Amino acid sequence: MASESTVGIVERVQSFVSENKRAVIIGAAAAAIAVGGVAYYASTSSRPRSQGDIEKAARKDKKKSSKGGKKKKSVKDTDGPILEERKPPAAKPEGEVVGEVLTAEQIAALPTEDRTKLASTFKENGNAAYKARQFAEAAELYTRAIEVSPKPEPVFYSNRAACYVNMTPPKHEFVVRDCDEALKLDINYIKALNRRAIALEGLERYEESLRDFTAATILDKFSNTTTAQAVERVLQKLATKRAAEILATREPRLPSFTFISAYFAAFRPRPHPALPENPSTGDQTLHLALQALEAADYAHALSFINESIDQGISWDVGKAEALNLRGTFKFLTGDVDGAKADLQESLNLVPSFTQSLVKIASVHMEQGNAQKAFECFEEAIKFNPNDPDIYYHRGQVLFIMSEFTQAAENYTKSTELDDQFVFSHIQLAVAQYKSESVANSMATFRRTLKAFPQRSEPQNYYGELLLDQQRFEDAVEKFDRAVELEKLKSPPNVLPLVNKGLTMYQWKQDIGAAERCCNEALRIDPECEAAVATLAQLSLQQSKIEKAVEMFEKQANLARSEPELVNALTYQFASAAQVEFLHNYPEMAAQLNALARGM
Ligand SMILES: *[C@@H]1O[C@H](CO)[C@@H](O)[C@H](O)[C@H]1NC(C)=O
Ligand SMILES: *[C@@H]1O[C@H](CO)[C@@H](O)[C@H](O)[C@H]1NC(C)=O
Ligand SMILES: *[C@@H]1O[C@H](CO)[C@@H](O)[C@H](O)[C@H]1NC(C)=O
Repeated sequence: MASESTVGIVERVQSFVSENKRAVIIGAAAAAIAVGGVAYYASTSSRPRSQGDIEKAARKDKKKSSKGGKKKKSVKDTDGPILEERKPPAAKPEGEVVGEVLTAEQIAALPTEDRTKLASTFKENGNAAYKARQFAEAAELYTRAIEVSPKPEPVFYSNRAACYVNMTPPKHEFVVRDCDEALKLDINYIKALNRRAIALEGLERYEESLRDFTAATILDKFSNTTTAQAVERVLQKLATKRAAEILATREPRLPSFTFISAYFAAFRPRPHPALPENPSTGDQTLHLALQALEAADYAHALSFINESIDQGISWDVGKAEALNLRGTFKFLTGDVDGAKADLQESLNLVPSFTQSLVKIASVHMEQGNAQKAFECFEEAIKFNPNDPDIYYHRGQVLFIMSEFTQAAENYTKSTELDDQFVFSHIQLAVAQYKSESVANSMATFRRTLKAFPQRSEPQNYYGELLLDQQRFEDAVEKFDRAVELEKLKSPPNVLPLVNKGLTMYQWKQDIGAAERCCNEALRIDPECEAAVATLAQLSLQQSKIEKAVEMFEKQANLARSEPELVNALTYQFASAAQVEFLHNYPEMAAQLNALARGM
């Protein structure tokens, strides 16, 4: 739960850069647009052919039907081919019987002008059939129009697609095929894009559906809220589906050094359990594991702990300790069930083991069971009423639940029992800040800074609150001090560096400085997700969309929990769709640039 701090930064980065996800997604598009940069307005503003009239026709049609007062079952695709054209329908070509199938030879023998007229008639009849909800017949008529027309018309394909949309069940594959044709002929055909997007969504081809909805949204200049909502909906489906696939297949992996050390730092150091007189091999390996842990060598600590359990530990207290530690590592790799099993086994051996009780409370929280978590704390207090860790961690749970007053009480209790644990002081100050006692909070921080002059954490978290109050200069000073103190450690915690970067950006919009801080942080801890997330957002801001996609991918790789993974994937897919848009519509770049400035 000390992980709060790391996760917190990632969230703050994202919420700062934009008010909400939707704005970021659209903001990403807006940023994406600046990429091309070439002024090239000509081709995009003129809309060829008759689709332009469709909206007007649709409104007219709606009015008419409401006047008629007949309650018609609504056609799903209301702006489909029901529409009347502005031009009166072409007269029937002389001597032709509409409805009779012509062979390819007969068609080829007709003069071009007649073929155009005939195609138009087929389309009119198709529209009439569509309006009468005779979708199969309408589709057939559009097919005739396509066959007879001397040149391919996108509207014939798009209208036929609308028929397939409305069949029961909808023929998604056919919709996609027809829209492919329509869009080959007119890449700016928004209606065809929307139709294909809906069909692709129906086929669960979410990435392609997102591509089309994104293109439609941008081409529509973000004016169509239905499409904008569709972008979000499909993004959500895509990210959730992909996250499930990733979680099902990927090897469990430890999180970044920054994250793990923050987690372990949330527990007061305890003396190692004394080894029995004649330690077994497993006992000795456990000893090595605890030494590696103390040296912050987490990879070795983990393999030693596994080994020690496999080798067999000879006494219960040692075994409970080992299971506690293995459970902790499982929790850190996202294996919540495995963690629970180990911690429970540890408690079966030593029911009064405070750390296992406190950690299993975190597991219950992770599983959304706050009541169970509080029961564990009560249980722990029954055994060890004066263990300060219990109150600190109960404070953390209350903090997450936004019960800041009770959290502050519990932190205070923890401090009363042991005032040497810096995080109780820091969290107390933050809880006071959150419950609007800003003056108290600042006073607590100043006392803590004085009491722990060699610790970087009070500097760092005080800096965060100063940043929140937009006291940028003071914040940077604190972060700098924290960075200095961390330099004495090996390896240093890089969060103050990321925080400094964020501040430079919020204060002076100094993206260069912000990136330098984050890159430095990544040099020290290549898996620091706060740095990766910040770089991703900064890349978006600078329209470096491809770099942003790369960073979001990295963020997704680092994500531990499903919500974190879904979040990173959402940004990744949203940006990737926009990269693809720019690739497919290079001439839109400049025009959209202007649009972005207006947003
Ligand atoms: C908005 O988009 C939806 C499809 O996403 C489409 O059905 C609708 O006609 C569009 N509205 C306008 C006003 O273009
Ligand atoms: C430790 O053991 C767990 C299962 O008990 C396993 O998932 C993990 O890969 C092991 N790790 C190492 C480094 O041996
Ligand atoms: C701590 O939190 C609990 C709620 O879980 C509350 O009942 C208690 O009064 C708080 N304060 C202390 C000092 O334990």
